[in-house]
Amino acid sequence: MTDPIFPPSAEVAANAHADAKKYDEMYAASVNDPEAFWAEHGKRLDWMTPYTKVKNTTFEYPDVSIKWYEDGELNVCVNCVDRHLETRGDQVAIIWESDEPGGDEKITYKKLHQEVSKLANVYKSLGVKKGDRVVLYMPMIPEAAYAMLACARIGAIHSIVFGGFSPDALASRIADSEAALVVTADEGPRGGRAVGLKKNVDAALDICGDVTTLVVARTGGGPGNKEGRDHDYATLMADASPDCPAEKMNAEDPLFVLYTSGSTGKPKGVVHTSGGYLVSASMTHQYTFDYHDGDVYWCTADVGWITGHSYIVYGPLANGATTLMFEGTPTYPDASRFWQVCEKHKVNQFYTAPTAIRSLMALGDVPVNKCDLSALKVLGTVGEPINPEAWNWYHNVVGKGKVPIVDTWWQTETGAHMMTPLPGAIATKPGSATKPFFGVQPVVLDPTTGKEITTQEAEGVLAIKDSWPSQMRTVYGDHERFVNTYFAAYKGYYFTEDGCRRDKDGYYWITGRVDDVLNVSGHRMGTAEIESALVAHPNVAEAAVVGYPHAVKGQGIYCYVTLNVGVEPSDDLRVELRNWVRKQIGPVASPDLIQWAPGLPKTRSGKIMRRILRKVAEDDFGSLGDTSTLAEPEVVDDLIANRMNRG
Ligand code: WTA
Repeated sequence: MTDPIFPPSAEVAANAHADAKKYDEMYAASVNDPEAFWAEHGKRLDWMTPYTKVKNTTFEYPDVSIKWYEDGELNVCVNCVDRHLETRGDQVAIIWESDEPGGDEKITYKKLHQEVSKLANVYKSLGVKKGDRVVLYMPMIPEAAYAMLACARIGAIHSIVFGGFSPDALASRIADSEAALVVTADEGPRGGRAVGLKKNVDAALDICGDVTTLVVARTGGGPGNKEGRDHDYATLMADASPDCPAEKMNAEDPLFVLYTSGSTGKPKGVVHTSGGYLVSASMTHQYTFDYHDGDVYWCTADVGWITGHSYIVYGPLANGATTLMFEGTPTYPDASRFWQVCEKHKVNQFYTAPTAIRSLMALGDVPVNKCDLSALKVLGTVGEPINPEAWNWYHNVVGKGKVPIVDTWWQTETGAHMMTPLPGAIATKPGSATKPFFGVQPVVLDPTTGKEITTQEAEGVLAIKDSWPSQMRTVYGDHERFVNTYFAAYKGYYFTEDGCRRDKDGYYWITGRVDDVLNVSGHRMGTAEIESALVAHPNVAEAAVVGYPHAVKGQGIYCYVTLNVGVEPSDDLRVELRNWVRKQIGPVASPDLIQWAPGLPKTRSGKIMRRILRKVAEDDFGSLGDTSTLAEPEVVDDLIANRMNRG
């Protein structure tokens, strides 16, 4: 069987930043002489002190070290804001669309410069200095972008915590990063409801101790400010000077920390630095979306995730783009909302997640067809493998069969797109992230031998052979963990923790995580985190969490729970445990299915056999494989008899 293939149209190719020939040439140059290639493309930024060194990287275990443009100096905020003032001061930088239809705001580069500079001065007045960490817990409002850029302006390091995380999760991130300031809003409207952000911050600070807090009044609701600790954003901004010189930063100074889930332990603080990160974020934004001056670009992610960092704020603004920021949800007030926003603002590039596409697909074609989507030039997806059915719907119904789709594979750790078609250059196949971006050298490794599979067709684990500019540099406060997580399993490579297949045309197909990380609605979640939340409940003796296929979310969260002796299982207890996990981690980690398990399948040495738990959760227990090493094989029969996901 051959996969359907969609070549770029001649018209798109003719006007694109890269056609097939140019992609081949640039890709070859990028891997044959990375120094020369990145020396050239580093010039897309404005440097205060030009770099003379380009690449200084080694993946050699345990001496992993990654430096790009290490003697260059720049300021990320200047690159995203100030440098555009002369040529496009009156151009719209950010279009903000509110949760309620009808509300929007257009922020020009001039205005962006003013707001960011004032906020940077407010930070200073609150004692924030270069190198300090600032935690942002924000709704999707322009102030979230101001808050990020103001950090960059004075060299403070932001750490954004997604608004769907609970006070407990927020507290641990505030504590881990030893934040000097928390920026939040009273409430965040989403889908017609108000998320109690300030309420959560208050609860978090009760846990981790008081930290100076700056509060944007978005709704006027919420618990009110605490004397001496909390400051009203508007009040301080009213008195702030719009003149704030930008700090000169080394290319390798951290720009931000972003916590993400791994297979073990608590979330890791992924550290991205200033120079290389911005080179990759801006270059991918330009090429992947084939962004041209004057285009209106919309990424529907939340700034709390890496996609929001690189593709709502840093990449687009570094390119002087018009970036749309949306406060709401795809289906509020109705199933047409995304498409109404596209029509209203004449969106040219639209970037969303497969889970959103699947949930909108389930609502039929009418809500899409009601809207004029003729401005669309590129459609993008990110976050998880996109199933061909969803891809085809996106292509046929949203793109009317004409708009190229870019399926972008990358990670919080990679900072920017790693594999993706370029609209004018690479023919697409539904479900494949296709080919590597410039400078990215993917390899498929045999998971047992760790050797590169050199045949064109290959299946194994995905690793990357050499560094790229926006690679994460370390785990905040724990370099050893960085080295051991990504460079120990397969020596000499960056291990992505994804499985993949390479087909006869050299196209890559990501098959999903090979570690214990779940991808629920495109959100990364560690099974270990959910398990430790469950066992922290007084009635729970033991818990094991696995993913199972979910029609809309991609993966659902399936929990096996062993209760303490004497505790009766009940539906009420199920609800209680679900709420408990929501409280410990946040609504994003809400269990979908909880099965009472009197025992878990363990080897004689006590190791839980997750393979069996996954199979039962998948409702595919005909092929459990070898169970002879189990200490008590009969627990499996009980698990099967009481399974929760019956297809
Ligand atoms: C998955 C999101 C298939 C993958 C930018 C990766 C994808 C994890 C794709 C990173 C894609 C992301 N096709 N899988 N186009 N994009 N993934 O850190 O498993 O939230 O390792 O970064 O999402 O998730 P993260």
